[in-house]
Amino acid sequence: MAKTHTIAVLSQKGGTGKTTTVRTLADALRRAGVRTLAVDLDPQGNLSDYFDLPPDAEPTIADVLSGRATAAEAIHEDLIPANLSLAEAELMLGGKMGREMTLRRALAKVPDDYQVMLIDCPPSLGLLTVNALVAADRALVTAEAQYFALQGVEQAMEVVELARDSLNPALELLGVLLNLADMRTVHSREALVSLQERFGEQVFATVIRSSIAYAESAERAKSILDHRPDLGADYLALAGEVLERLPELADARKRLAQLAQSAST
Ligand SMILES: Nc1ncnc2c1ncn2[C@@H]1O[C@H](COP(=O)(O)OP(=O)(O)OP(=O)(O)O)[C@@H](O)[C@H]1O
Ligand SMILES: [Mg+2]
Repeated sequence: MAKTHTIAVLSQKGGTGKTTTVRTLADALRRAGVRTLAVDLDPQGNLSDYFDLPPDAEPTIADVLSGRATAAEAIHEDLIPANLSLAEAELMLGGKMGREMTLRRALAKVPDDYQVMLIDCPPSLGLLTVNALVAADRALVTAEAQYFALQGVEQAMEVVELARDSLNPALELLGVLLNLADMRTVHSREALVSLQERFGEQVFATVIRSSIAYAESAERAKSILDHRPDLGADYLALAGEVLERLPELADARKRLAQLAQSAST
């Protein structure tokens, strides 16, 4: 059986486009035929909203982390949802032995026909994000194209390294993504240069452009790939880079390239 890649999407700051990235990468990978599970690990439950899951869908990731449900039982339309009850589950988790390993153990029991699992982390580097990093084999760090982007990424990277050194030696960086960028502005360009100077090739060549259309597409729970294919092209390009970094999924690259081509014509 092929290996499942588990990708934690994290940032030190809020509002760096993590949830949009998980949602849209899942869309792009699925359209390329990659069986993808999305996991909402944020008590805000934004990912569940973006996918238009009913707010009362149960069980959720909180039930999984507290042992009331298995991860398999909590999958609704290829998504494990979250809601505010996750905040309580996080508090409970804090007092338990092996608290950093709980998500890893739970996801290990997901039926392994998924090729990719994408985990949407909350905007903090606390216990939930650590659980995601211990469950993952790749970390994708997002940064808003603003002043201080580099500091935020460096802080996220410290937590990635901590997880690798202590509990998850198999964890690798998938890449650093510059998001919400307006390359006509000096601060977006400087943010990119500072990330490239520090992280070199690990910074994705694809930069996600900033557009008000993202808020509209989130509100309508409609993928940006359909809402604004011209902007969605950024995420198709990102998905292509992600697949390049996951050689086991090489077959999907051709299908993705076809998608990107038909989107641009
Ligand atoms: N490329 C983009 N351009 C403009 N706005 C965007 C873009 N991507 C996401 N947004 C909008 O920015 C806001 C934050 O995005 P998102 O929820 O994806 O970030 P986040 O990092 O998950 O936030 P949080 O830290 O609160 O979880 C949302 O309103 C979203 O619609
Ligand atoms: Mg989010």
